[in-house]
Amino acid sequence: MFRLVSSNMAFFTHHIKRSFSSSAVRNVVIKNVTIIGGGQMGAGIAQVAASTGHSVTLVDMTDDILKKAMKGIQSSLRRVVKKTFSGDPESGDDFIQKVMQNVSTSTEPSAAIATSDLILEAIVENMKIKQDLFGFLDKMAPEHTIFASNTSSLPISDIASATSRPDRCAGLHFFNPVPLMKLVEVVATTSTSPETSESLLNFTKALGKTPVCCKDTPGFIVNRLLVPYMMEALRLHERGHASKEDIDTGMKLGAGYPMGPFELSDYVGLDTIKFIMDGWSKKEPDNPIFAPSQLLNKLVAEGKLGKKTLEGFYKYNK
Ligand code: 3HC
Repeated sequence: MFRLVSSNMAFFTHHIKRSFSSSAVRNVVIKNVTIIGGGQMGAGIAQVAASTGHSVTLVDMTDDILKKAMKGIQSSLRRVVKKTFSGDPESGDDFIQKVMQNVSTSTEPSAAIATSDLILEAIVENMKIKQDLFGFLDKMAPEHTIFASNTSSLPISDIASATSRPDRCAGLHFFNPVPLMKLVEVVATTSTSPETSESLLNFTKALGKTPVCCKDTPGFIVNRLLVPYMMEALRLHERGHASKEDIDTGMKLGAGYPMGPFELSDYVGLDTIKFIMDGWSKKEPDNPIFAPSQLLNKLVAEGKLGKKTLEGFYKYNK
């Protein structure tokens, strides 16, 4: 994508009209959204934004990825309308059609970026790649455009440092499955302006979600509590104190969780959990909460990443 975008970069940096001066940037009413990354999270966010009347451009490196993302959005919408338009399938079909019209896809995002109020990245969890992306987009996007990252564990301030607009950078952390999970974490760094936070809070409410505010600390709120809980379940199992099935049943029936920790780990992706844990344990190697798990490392090394590879702690049918 960088190569494709770079070819037009000079053109666009000359032609983008900078209609807001930095000092005049106030609350931004977010209508046009560019989402970079057409994976599960990016596609889910695109779906929700389009369903609530936003104009969305979904960007990824290949048409194949984007086609798969659009197919995923359509099938998820079908599940949603089955419930919300039950008894009125025609209106459901109309709704799906309208939502799909709100989403366009591109491997060359320059035009969309020029009119974006918000650019949200949901790409691979790699700091250098995110910084390169934000640094690059910073040169193309209008002054008022807010940059947000859906990272689950990387510091937002480090990503924002690649831009000239740290006051207009923040975290916007969604949860899987995005169409169903009501929460969004709005993460403010020490540089994020109150206007940026407020614009994002209003945006998440316009999506029909409930926002919570948090600081730019490892794991924000939810992952800081959820990931150590899943790791503790793993350690309980590794010590031979209970089977994974019984631990899952215990947490579902005894604590009211919709999924047990092993089911949830498979759902989130074992590689994602390992990535988060490795980052934390690097920072605090002596903290037992962040101690690695041999079983998790083994499964990831074997490519058993959970539901997406049809095997993790459990096996899944296609
Ligand atoms: N799109 C649209 N609808 C969907 C859907 C999707 N992606 N996934 C499920 N649904 C619908 C189903 O069609 C079904 O509809 P119905 O009631 O009309 O039949 C309904 O949701 C319930 O689905 P299921 O019967 O398949 O399964 P459940 O009742 O178990 O619900 C669940 C599924 C909502 C995923 C529930 O199990 C749950 O809430 N699990 C916990 C998820 C969670 O904790 N997510 C956060 C993970 S952490 C994270 O994402 C952060 C990251 O940084 C790591």
